Amino acid sequence: MTLAQAAGKVILVGEHAVVYGRPAIAVPVTEVRAEARVESAEVGQGVVVVAPDLGRTIVVRQAAEDEPLAHIVRCTLAAFELEREPDLTVTVTSTVPIARGMGSGAAVSTAIVRALTKHEGRWLSSRAISELVYQTEVIYHGTPSGIDNTVIAFEKPIYFVKDEGWEVFWVGSPFSLAIADTGIESSTREIVGGLRQRYEADPDRYRPLFDRAGEIAVAARSAIEEGQPGELGRLMDENHALLQQMGVSCPELDRLVAAAREGGALGAKLSGAGSGGNMIALVTKETQGRVGMMLRLAGATHVLTTEVR
Ligand code: MEV
Repeated sequence: MTLAQAAGKVILVGEHAVVYGRPAIAVPVTEVRAEARVESAEVGQGVVVVAPDLGRTIVVRQAAEDEPLAHIVRCTLAAFELEREPDLTVTVTSTVPIARGMGSGAAVSTAIVRALTKHEGRWLSSRAISELVYQTEVIYHGTPSGIDNTVIAFEKPIYFVKDEGWEVFWVGSPFSLAIADTGIESSTREIVGGLRQRYEADPDRYRPLFDRAGEIAVAARSAIEEGQPGELGRLMDENHALLQQMGVSCPELDRLVAAAREGGALGAKLSGAGSGGNMIALVTKETQGRVGMMLRLAGATHVLTTEVR
């Protein structure tokens, strides 16, 4: 039996604008994880993926081309250039909340690639794993920027520019984020598609919003490298206002953002695709408890705190 895991993630600044080539920053969230367990199975079975959380069993050789779990298995095995399909049962479980902007799809896919790689006695670089997972992200999300699979494969804070590259960068002094769930499912594919339609109908309105979000990502990287949490918080607040203008926030997210600020957070914003899902708040040891309480009182269904280092 072979086990492998992958962390979740949140976007710190720059979501959506990143799809249009502006820089963004994402960080891993190791408090939530996807896990894949690979076991040898009876001869002739082929690969079967079992996802007990979803109540699903997928026979890979019979699954549709665009079935994401079968797709990641096929892509991984193709990379190994095996002569015949192995006989394996792959069991996947995950504590990464689904459809909440925390990279659940990319985390599950990454765990599967890592577990299959180990089980077959192979080695793939984090970059190769990220590229394989990207192919499945296309099925989930349509036109993903690639930031989710990258941050999850490398499990480090990253500064990311689509089609140009990404860098792991220095965190001057570790900081904490409270991550609060609206309890509302959010479809990245639909929200990214909706913004695309609005942008194409009125590019002059949205281009400056994307430009400013990109500038915020550049400034946020400096604030993180130099250990200036006050400045980072201010930039997060400004980024939330831009996301509101892009039309991807919602009353529940705005309520949680306001509550976090009232509780003393240095900054707060939605994180990920928006229209539900999660928000993040920059907290300190002193404000963490109060912000968490305010978030719950404002309707958060779940709050967790992660340290970025
Ligand atoms: C989703 O985590 C982040 C978005 O910017 C979409 C993407 O980058 O593919 C909304």
